[in-house]
Amino acid sequence: MKKLTRFSLSIENSLLKKFEEEISKKGYKNRSQAISDLIRKDLVKQEWGRGNKEVVGTITLVYNHHQRTILNRLLNLQHNFHKAIISTTHIHLDKENCLEVLVVKGKPNKIKEIADKLTSIKGIKYGELSTATTGKDLT
Ligand code: NI
Repeated sequence: MKKLTRFSLSIENSLLKKFEEEISKKGYKNRSQAISDLIRKDLVKQEWGRGNKEVVGTITLVYNHHQRTILNRLLNLQHNFHKAIISTTHIHLDKENCLEVLVVKGKPNKIKEIADKLTSIKGIKYGELSTATTGKDLT
C-alpha cells in the first residue's frame, strides 16, 4: 500500500463550498481523492509544457467527407506522421459527416504540430487535441 501523508490547508469558505459542490456532482466520495486528481491533472499539464517526456493524447476531428480534397489531405498527413499516430477510429456519423479519433504518442511538440496541421485542414468542422499521459510518472 502507498504511504499517505495527512496535511491541512487553509482555504476561503466560499471557495471550499464551491469545490465541494463540484466534486459531489462528479461523484467524488472525499476531498482527498478530488485534490489528488487535481494535482495529477496539473502534473500532466506540466509534462506537456516541459516537452522532454513522451506523452499520449487523442485528436478528434469532425468533417464532411464530401468536401473536396479533405480525405487526401487527411490521409497524407496521417501517413507522414505514422510513427506518432498509433490508432485511428473512423465513425460515419450520418450520410455526410465523419468523426475521426486519433490516438497519438510522442514528444509534446510533435503531437501539437500534428494536431495543428490536422485541425487546420480546410473543411474540418471541429478539431481538438485532448492531452493525456503515459501514466509512468503518476501514482
Ligand atoms: Ni465516414
